[in-house]
Amino acid sequence: MPSTEDELFPSTPGKFKIDRQSNMLNRQFNRCFASTSTMFLWALFLIALTASYLSFQSFVDSGSRYFSASLGGIQWEKQVRNSAETHRSGGISVLVTGAAGFVGTHVSLALKKRGDGVVGIDNFNNYYDPSLKKARKQLLENHKIFIVDGDINDFKLLSKLFDTVAFTHVMHLAAQAGVRYAMENPQSYVHSNIAGLVNLLEVCKSANPQPAIVWASSSSVYGLNTDVPFSESDRTDQPASLYAATKKAGEEITHTYNHIYGLSITGLRFFTVYGPWGRPDMAYFSFTRNILQGKPITVYRGKNRVDLARDFTYIDDIVKGCLGSLDTAGKSTGSGGKKRGPALYRIFNLGNTSPVTVPNLVNILERHLKVKAKRNYVEMPGNGDVPFTHANITLARKELGCWVTQLYNSTNASIQSLLALIYAKI
Ligand SMILES: NC(=O)c1ccc[n+]([C@@H]2O[C@H](COP(=O)([O-])OP(=O)(O)OC[C@H]3O[C@@H](n4cnc5c(N)ncnc54)[C@H](O)[C@@H]3O)[C@@H](O)[C@H]2O)c1
Repeated sequence: MPSTEDELFPSTPGKFKIDRQSNMLNRQFNRCFASTSTMFLWALFLIALTASYLSFQSFVDSGSRYFSASLGGIQWEKQVRNSAETHRSGGISVLVTGAAGFVGTHVSLALKKRGDGVVGIDNFNNYYDPSLKKARKQLLENHKIFIVDGDINDFKLLSKLFDTVAFTHVMHLAAQAGVRYAMENPQSYVHSNIAGLVNLLEVCKSANPQPAIVWASSSSVYGLNTDVPFSESDRTDQPASLYAATKKAGEEITHTYNHIYGLSITGLRFFTVYGPWGRPDMAYFSFTRNILQGKPITVYRGKNRVDLARDFTYIDDIVKGCLGSLDTAGKSTGSGGKKRGPALYRIFNLGNTSPVTVPNLVNILERHLKVKAKRNYVEMPGNGDVPFTHANITLARKELGCWVTQLYNSTNASIQSLLALIYAKI
């Protein structure tokens, strides 16, 4: 009788005894067949083991990607802390969202220049040429301002930022801007202006200490109102675009967080901001480019050939309004997600309070560019634009200090530097 060992192994290593092997296989097969249920259980066990290994592996992978790329580890934390450090007594430490944007860049620079700590966050989306955002980032880095490449919807990332630095203030400027683009990509407005805002507020409400929040609403909340100038107490329930609706929703959402969690909130309704490093999607930018290239420009008109008008506001005036708001915001009263008392809730118009009609804007550009524009007048389509904006800024003047730079002034250095920058971009 062959030994059990003989049955299981060939007599000479490397050589198979065909007969015996086939016998052996048959017997093995029979045995295995007899214990199918055991085999089935083993198979299940192996599948489960493999699946849990794979999911663990992907968890580790995504975790390490998250920590090494997004959060950047110890070196990243050091950069964040250095950038947030204040260099004046009584200085504030501000997280600026949308820091690589037009307004975000100017506000970040102004804060840094006066000795405050600034950390920026921006997702560098491609709503307009991201290379302009990268160039602004470079400018900020030259002034030792660190910009995190990330989305305000990333809860872990925002929490990590607040774990790293006890920000005293948040200057929230990240948003999907632009009125007409909402008809093309409505979801991007919900993503940044609604979901992103709530995510940011969730992190802020749980932070200890809670920061005070100043954020950009918009003059567009006045929608189809006809009483001018627009005052903060006017109705804002007739938005003309999805952009306006998301900004209006932002005002209600921030009110809720102020009410429930004691966050100090200041909402700023900006009126058409212009200046160096401005947004290429705005009319003054595309007009300038087309005039210089000899191309016609489309000038919209309202019903009965009424000229459209905007309360164009120079970026430096907006920056003053933002810094004034940060300085007067007062503290949030809650901590660890619990309200401890009432906190400030404010809304201000930040405008110029002297609207310029679009044809007049073109006149100003022609004068500075020394080129005649080829104007193509067209009736305004129903795409979310409103016929005019005009800010009453009494409240902001009283509480934040006075500012107004006139677009009319032909010797104005602001227009020269604005145009110089547009030239550079063409
Ligand atoms: N410029 C104006 O005339 C004007 C007028 C009214 C209101 N506003 C508001 O002021 C703020 C700043 O406007 P701007 O002109 O500087 O616009 P901008 O587009 O130049 O800046 C916004 C920045 O936010 C970033 N961003 C967008 N979604 C983000 C997200 N989910 N996560 C992280 N970053 C994100 C963008 O990449 C961009 O760099 C915006 O809230 C805008 O709605 C601007």
